[in-house]
Amino acid sequence: MSLQQKPTPPNRRVLSGTEDFDGLREAHPTLSGPSYWDPEIYKMELERIFYRHWIFLCHSDSVAETRAFRRFTIGNQGIFLVRDEDGTLRGFHNTCRHRGSALCVEEQGRLTGRAIRCPYHQWAYGLDGRLVATTSHAVAPDFDKADYPLYPVAVREWRGCVFACLSDNAPDLEEGFERGSDRIEHWPLEDLKIGHVWRKVMDCNWKVFWENFNECLHCPNIHPELCDLVPIYGRRISSVRDAADWQDHLDDMHPRYAGGLREGGESWTMDGRPVGAKFDRLTEAELQRGQSYFVSMPSVFIAAHRDYMRTVRVLPLGPEQTEIVAEWLFPQATLDAMTPEDLKRVTDFGILVMQQDGDASALNQQGLRSHKYEHGVLMPEEHWVKGFHDWVREALAD
Ligand code: FES
Ligand SMILES: [Fe+2]
Repeated sequence: MSLQQKPTPPNRRVLSGTEDFDGLREAHPTLSGPSYWDPEIYKMELERIFYRHWIFLCHSDSVAETRAFRRFTIGNQGIFLVRDEDGTLRGFHNTCRHRGSALCVEEQGRLTGRAIRCPYHQWAYGLDGRLVATTSHAVAPDFDKADYPLYPVAVREWRGCVFACLSDNAPDLEEGFERGSDRIEHWPLEDLKIGHVWRKVMDCNWKVFWENFNECLHCPNIHPELCDLVPIYGRRISSVRDAADWQDHLDDMHPRYAGGLREGGESWTMDGRPVGAKFDRLTEAELQRGQSYFVSMPSVFIAAHRDYMRTVRVLPLGPEQTEIVAEWLFPQATLDAMTPEDLKRVTDFGILVMQQDGDASALNQQGLRSHKYEHGVLMPEEHWVKGFHDWVREALAD
């Protein structure tokens, strides 16, 4: 279960000259048309993918304080997080053990006391999930509070990113890291603070989102501003070796061939100017690249730039609707020094690109409903889409 990702050399200095074209050599069929809208297939994907894998929820910064809580929905499963008095983040199904009411109503907040109280008949649970009090005048002799703790959900905090897994047999979290986490190891992800959050409901199946993410064939016509900042995207590729003739341009250091941002561009903002100091552990190659990506399938990608990072969470709302939530992450010092205009230069750029992708994905979804469309075909540059399809097929196979 791995995307066909190989490290992308930013320029000739790190090319050995022995690598070959990364693209597909054969015309591969896409996933079937119905897999993008059939409710039965969607149900199977929830059960075999979203209820089995680790799902990114948010950056730890939004549940940092003791007794802070946040509510989430994965598929049709409501869960909530709460940070206990010792600082451990815990996860529970949002279901009372009395008669099943939802417990957590607000999206997020901070508990005023040390109990989670059901809004229906007011049973109270400790932050560790133990049932500590009922409100009945009498209890049956065979009733034992110890038998009715909240249903726990596995939670992991990895480098300041909160993941949950609904399975009782959670796999290794790192198994889901499709694009190596070493790509972002020089960024201080765990120390960053959330500067802005943006939510969008996309009118497409969740797989359409990831397919779009995994190719740049659409870039010149869908993302003119992005292609201006990242010239190689204007060639409908996202890395040097995605072009069949890449070896012919080894000596061309123009970013259109070597990758990296346009001349004068330093960060992903509306005008290419950074909004804060560069992270001090980045290598020259990482600075030149302009953007580095980390993907944890099926729920998040993280984009890393010289002065900020952005997480984009992907969760299906139904067979033909997908929610994306972006969090922009900055050092506290950048947030303190940044003007509202600076913040807007960053967020406007990301939102512009995500809106463009959302519109293209909605258009894609409309066409996929045709009963004539059994499947499509992948072109050579779409090798990461093929990798994604293989991952989906494998996940659904057992
Ligand atoms: S359903 Fe929660 S206390 Fe009754
Ligand atoms: Fe795009």
